[in-house]
Amino acid sequence: IDVPRFCYHKHLSIAANCRMCLVEVEGAAKPQPACSTPVNEGMKIYTKSDIAINAQKSVMEMLLINHPLDCPICDQGGECELQDVAVQYGSGISHFSEGKRTVTNKNLGPLIQTDMTRCIHCSRCVRFGQEIAGIQELGMTGRGEHMEVEAFISTTIDSELSGNMIDVCPVGALTSKPFRYQARSWQLKSKPSIARHDCLGSNLIVQNYKNEIKRVVALENENINQTWISDRDRFSYTGINSEKRLIKPKIKVSGQWQTVDWDVALEFAFKGLSAVITKTQGKQLAGLTSANATLEELFVFQKLLKKLGSANVDFRLNTADLETIVPPQATINLSQLATQKYTLLLGGNPRLEQPMLNHRLRQQVLNGGVCDAINITNFDFNYQVNQQIAKVETELLAILEALKSDKNGNEFVKNSAKQLLKNKEESVLILGSHLGQNINAGFIYQTAQEICQLTGANLIVLSEESNVASALVANVLPEKNGLNAIEMLDNPQNAYLLLDVYPDYDCLDAQKAIDAFKKSEFVCCLNAYQNEIVDEYADVILPISTFLETAGSHINFAGELQSFQSSVTTQKDIKPAWKVLKVIADKFELTGFDWVTANQIRDEAITQTVDLKTKPNLTLNKSNQEIEVVWQISPYAKDSVCRHSQDLQASSIGQINEVRMNQITAEKIAVAKKYKNIELKIDNTMLDNTVFVLTHQSKLLDKVGNFS
Ligand code: SF4
Ligand code: SF4
Ligand code: FES
Repeated sequence: IDVPRFCYHKHLSIAANCRMCLVEVEGAAKPQPACSTPVNEGMKIYTKSDIAINAQKSVMEMLLINHPLDCPICDQGGECELQDVAVQYGSGISHFSEGKRTVTNKNLGPLIQTDMTRCIHCSRCVRFGQEIAGIQELGMTGRGEHMEVEAFISTTIDSELSGNMIDVCPVGALTSKPFRYQARSWQLKSKPSIARHDCLGSNLIVQNYKNEIKRVVALENENINQTWISDRDRFSYTGINSEKRLIKPKIKVSGQWQTVDWDVALEFAFKGLSAVITKTQGKQLAGLTSANATLEELFVFQKLLKKLGSANVDFRLNTADLETIVPPQATINLSQLATQKYTLLLGGNPRLEQPMLNHRLRQQVLNGGVCDAINITNFDFNYQVNQQIAKVETELLAILEALKSDKNGNEFVKNSAKQLLKNKEESVLILGSHLGQNINAGFIYQTAQEICQLTGANLIVLSEESNVASALVANVLPEKNGLNAIEMLDNPQNAYLLLDVYPDYDCLDAQKAIDAFKKSEFVCCLNAYQNEIVDEYADVILPISTFLETAGSHINFAGELQSFQSSVTTQKDIKPAWKVLKVIADKFELTGFDWVTANQIRDEAITQTVDLKTKPNLTLNKSNQEIEVVWQISPYAKDSVCRHSQDLQASSIGQINEVRMNQITAEKIAVAKKYKNIELKIDNTMLDNTVFVLTHQSKLLDKVGNFS
């Protein structure tokens, strides 16, 4: 039964302040708001009686007293709850003949557009801030006709989930700034897709007008993102049509770049790679790819390399411990995470890295759960977390020992062991994305597994890149005698095939990667954007589609495989990477590359078995670095698409730029010279010789992690 409503939202608390849902309840003196009236045995409710309809019509008339009804120039037009309900319950005549009120607009930053005269004071945006985003940036001031919704902590909305306020606002008071006046909602074509900026795989609806992506909104998936998405997933599409997009293949002849047709570029790539392969039987050919690519791209990439005779293929560009594979995994899904009693988070900053997972952790704590975290420094959680600054490997080992003998360990360790023993299957260990840079990641993984076996706790392993689970399914790993990502750079190879690699952001040691590529005879790159550093070492650059322009599959941290179609078709000379790789294979007359669709590749990829067995009984490795650096790329600089979104870059999260260490470490490494464009924050709670960087800047600002 359809009851009109504005302030009710299934994931927000009941406010019952719009009164649009008034219904007649038998025995009640006055109509009651349906959203806040509990149902009782034997109760009789009339939603279409004269009393109910008259009440609803009166509320509608009152809401429209001050509403501008400027629908022809309102971005909400066509998908506006007020407009729809007004058609059903509104009257052509108003009893109100005085002047309508107007409200001054607010500038809430680069992502949210306001037209506050249209606000109907439903308070959904305010409750969203309090209850979901965990930071109440909007609030209501004044009463009656003077009531206004405004930002009162800072002048802008800075939450990593802020765009959801646009979705919850039932009217055109809050709309998307990048979408403003771009198209009418009924002109948009919608297609489902999957977000690829973190390892969760949030569900999206991508909307285009005349084949250009105009807007991205959330697609409901209760087990992953509910009805929310992060700002990164919502607004990154604005980077797709950046001026920096590569739109034509190019080749380097005698040191000069030439823009050429695909035939010429592919022949050039074929000849360059052939020369090296012939000389070394493919042994001096190496392939590196980003793990943000699709399952299909990753599968074709490794198959091509291996069929060309190369055993050197890897995706672990930013991983320190290549001895052990730490696969993304989860014994519980995100909705179950919200109901756990205890979480131990190790090496991660989920609010910025996996915002929708952070939202579930927040729900867990609001539900009475306890959350402990061990990190290199304290992070800004939007819920109560007991934070411990320590080395993850030693602290986790201490927790394991405390579980075996309750006398061991400091207070944090003892409490953590106690919580794990008390909550057993209702507790969870989360290995965060920072552990990729930890030389002891394998040891941490094994210790975490042992703790889970001992206590029954659940385990979640997160990855920094979005599609690591696919890279493992696709077996983008070196063959038995092949070189891994670090060895390929330590020993420069004669030729490299690089898929979506931008070393100054993606590689553990950016300078070493660039030096290795420069020493190589031939480098073939498949990239979506122009880049000066890539131009220095590449010999041929082939323009490829970005994540919303290609069909493919994503496997999230919990092993859920989700396939998607391309949301738009690309310009003529931009091709999906899997097709480019297939054509290169055809040029070499390789067999086994006969697919016509991405689905066929996916079906082949998921049938193969990959051996991910790790060595048992790992021990602690000693780092060869004097200073331990955790370099967290800010969320809006994480991949090439985000980096080219000017709207995301202009937001306060996009501007994040800081390096933290204690005074002793700062003096030791003469920090002013090393991190000259990053703001230094002295944090004397940090351990000596540890540095935490959180920045949107390229790693080339300094030689990271090599201070000796
Ligand atoms: Fe029209 Fe809705 Fe916009 Fe108001 S909010 S002007 S009713 S489209
Ligand atoms: Fe409701 Fe929108 Fe006004 Fe917020 S801005 S109170 S969501 S109408
Ligand atoms: Fe019930 Fe607003 S939806 S009062």
